[in-house]
Amino acid sequence: MFRRTDAAISPTALYTGTVWRRNGLSHPAFATFAGTALWTGLVGPRRAASLLGAPDLDTMLLARHHSIDTLLERAIDAGEISQVVEIAAGLSPRGWRFASRYGSDLTYIETDLLAMSRRKEDLLTRAELMGPGHRVRVLDAFKPTGPNSLDALANELDPDQGTAVITEGLINYFPMPHVTTLWNSVGSTLHRFPRGLYLSDLHLDQSPGAVTATAKVLITAFVRGNVYLHFDREQDAIDALRKAGFDDAELLLPSSFEGVDPVAGVDRNLIVRATTA
Ligand SMILES: C[S@@+](CC[C@H](N)C(=O)[O-])C[C@H]1O[C@@H](n2cnc3c(N)ncnc32)[C@H](O)[C@@H]1O
Repeated sequence: MFRRTDAAISPTALYTGTVWRRNGLSHPAFATFAGTALWTGLVGPRRAASLLGAPDLDTMLLARHHSIDTLLERAIDAGEISQVVEIAAGLSPRGWRFASRYGSDLTYIETDLLAMSRRKEDLLTRAELMGPGHRVRVLDAFKPTGPNSLDALANELDPDQGTAVITEGLINYFPMPHVTTLWNSVGSTLHRFPRGLYLSDLHLDQSPGAVTATAKVLITAFVRGNVYLHFDREQDAIDALRKAGFDDAELLLPSSFEGVDPVAGVDRNLIVRATTA
């Protein structure tokens, strides 16, 4: 059923939520009528974009999701991380999957703006999918301090435990000053913990012109907003992350992860891995 709150929820989150569910990554409780309708409506434009040489959107989404999962899993299994804050989690099933898998060994806080976080908490509660360390909170990614900021949410966490912050499918929808605010906030917050890990995806502005333009037009129409390609070169992004307080930063190719097919375009969406010691 279409719900009233769908109107206040980003179409991109409804779309990606549907992609995760269609590909067996999610629980049936995460299904939305609006997401399915959006996904179905985009079958034609996706095909047209592929004919014009643009990479397949769902393949890119799945590659980035899997790569971030893999890096998070490695850090948890290595004993480096036992607390996760996912910013702009939308209808991502990652919180549910990781919280179910690691139980009380992991604290996983999913966050988003008010309408989406209410929606997420509601669906997790109704379907009885909330494990012991799993929580949902309201958080504005671009608020450096005060209520609903990452800085305030970090007070809920254990300062003696390694902590990860994730942003997936967020960065390229906002202009550079927003990204700087977010990265400064993540960098400084993670320094409050013995180890910090930041995982994200990022599109650079380095794809062949016509393809980038086609993809940009399609995505801009889809999200009803702008798409921003902030950096031309990997090194520029790494420098910005270091300036934001990270001790180390790298950009990884999704195709370098086991389980990601190196099909055309899959590496357009790079994976950010930045750490604080
Ligand atoms: C493309 S969706 C990605 C959702 C999820 N990360 C995924 O990959 O499926 C973008 C998400 O960003 C959230 N968002 C937009 N502006 C935000 C902000 N200022 N702070 C936190 N979340 C925000 C939206 O509500 C939406 O859930």
